Amino acid sequence: MLKRLSLGIVSVAIVGAVGFGVYAYKPALDPISPDSLEAFDPAIVDQGRVLASAGYCATCHTAEGGAPYAGNYAMATGFGTIYSTNLTPDVETGIGAYSRDAFRRAMHEGVDREGNHLFPAFPYDHFTKMSDADVDAIYAFIMTEIAPVATEQKPNELPFPLDQRFLQAGWKLLFADLGRYEPDADHSDAWNRGAYLAEGVTHCGACHTPRNALGAEDASQHYAGAEIDRWIAPALTSQNPSAVAWTAPEFKAYLIDGVTQYHGVAAGPMGPVVHEGVRELAEDDLDALAVYLADKVGATEDDPASSEAVLASLQANRPDPRYRRDLGERLYATACASCHYNVDQIAQGRPDLGINSSTNLDTPNNLIHVILDGVNGPEGIAGVVMPGFREALSDAEITAIAAYLRDQRAGKPEWPDLAGTVADIRVNGPAAH
Ligand code: HEC
Ligand code: HEC
Ligand code: HEC
Repeated sequence: MLKRLSLGIVSVAIVGAVGFGVYAYKPALDPISPDSLEAFDPAIVDQGRVLASAGYCATCHTAEGGAPYAGNYAMATGFGTIYSTNLTPDVETGIGAYSRDAFRRAMHEGVDREGNHLFPAFPYDHFTKMSDADVDAIYAFIMTEIAPVATEQKPNELPFPLDQRFLQAGWKLLFADLGRYEPDADHSDAWNRGAYLAEGVTHCGACHTPRNALGAEDASQHYAGAEIDRWIAPALTSQNPSAVAWTAPEFKAYLIDGVTQYHGVAAGPMGPVVHEGVRELAEDDLDALAVYLADKVGATEDDPASSEAVLASLQANRPDPRYRRDLGERLYATACASCHYNVDQIAQGRPDLGINSSTNLDTPNNLIHVILDGVNGPEGIAGVVMPGFREALSDAEITAIAAYLRDQRAGKPEWPDLAGTVADIRVNGPAAH
């Protein structure tokens, strides 16, 4: 009996393994020569350019200081470092030999032309939602507009067996919901368009949805907020920590300008999302994204200017360093208040810190990043700079300022282990490298 049982288990296992092998096996697709491609319609190429921006392909496929799209951008995952591939149409080292169908398969199924499974550091689990037409447009853009550059992909630094690509087929089976976006009949066309863009090409969930132990987004916590590179991508649900309720127009402004009067700046990893990406979308598409986000967050239509939090925060007097005893308050008055203390500063693009998301979040990470390294370059408002205080302020001083802002301006409970987080981000935060 036991023998038959174990034989049974063995045969189930064999059938399972064979089934998995069949599922995991992907054939190589024939190489093409890019010269053989017929000319693409310029309107399609332009649509592809916009979509490639909205999907921030260049952000992940360009190494620091490297040629655009030539790959080798290092992505630190919880399991090791993965290098992006060369996305230029170079035949030997890029995707020059990819046919349109091979490109579709890569985007929709996460399989390269030769039949290897790709790692989900490449967000194909989102790109799978994109229509064939949109994927084809990106293909047309890359094949036409991007100059071929020869660069070999650096070997990934992953421990065995995680480096085994066929195992990625198992990951897909378990976690990836492959297939095109299915419209939801209970919602408007604009909502569905916004959802299509957010879940597909712009892959907002890649940062705003927490991941499980195997690095897959946890669908049951869609947009619940997550940590990325020691930054916090805030919840885009009813749990959003903003002091002032979001409205659809505020979302739209944030996605175009990288800042809103009542919520602050798209700094850190959110910077390129706005500046290299989403803002390129057509006006209708930005409206649609705003409709979708507004629904997710449960946004109001109230004018934020009349919200209680805004009025209270703006009434707070400018701290006067002569009469203050608390270290954080004195430092704030001397180092920060010249730029941040009331409504006039908001008008000049300097956020009011009482209502800023970074002082209202449950963790101080974003505030600490901003104090250490400022907001500049491709983040925030063009031509406006928030200086970094990495060299000017000690950990104890930054801790004191953050504690003051949290308590006196945001009026929220003390952050646990603030000092430890300041020390950690100074040493290990991305800008230190
Ligand atoms: C979050 C980072 C990230 C973004 C954004 C991203 N990619 Fe990638 N992509 C990667 C990584 C990493 C790989 C390599 C995965 C591997 O080696 O398994 C990759 C691989 C690919 C491949 C397979 C190519 C090959 O030679 O094997 C294609 C095609 C691709 N990406 C296209 C795109 C396009 C088009 C966009 C924008 C719409 C895009 N990617 C955006 C990280 C990204
Ligand atoms: C690469 C990671 C990443 C991606 C992708 C990303 N975000 Fe973010 N997002 C962040 C981070 C980090 C912050 C915090 C920025 C800050 O405080 O300066 C943020 C902040 C935001 C905020 C402000 C929230 C608040 O309450 O202050 C909104 C709104 C937002 N993101 C929307 C989006 C949308 C919409 C998308 C998709 C189009 C998206 N994000 C994609 C990382 C990301
Ligand atoms: C020289 C003027 C100036 C000084 C001094 C200054 N800031 Fe700023 N700060 C700015 C500007 C401008 C922005 C908006 C940047 C942008 O949008 O690109 C900003 C943005 C911010 C933000 C918003 C970040 C976000 O993600 O929304 C925070 C928080 C902040 N500053 C905190 C501080 C603190 C704390 C100090 C003192 C240690 C300080 N600032 C000193 C000009 C200043």
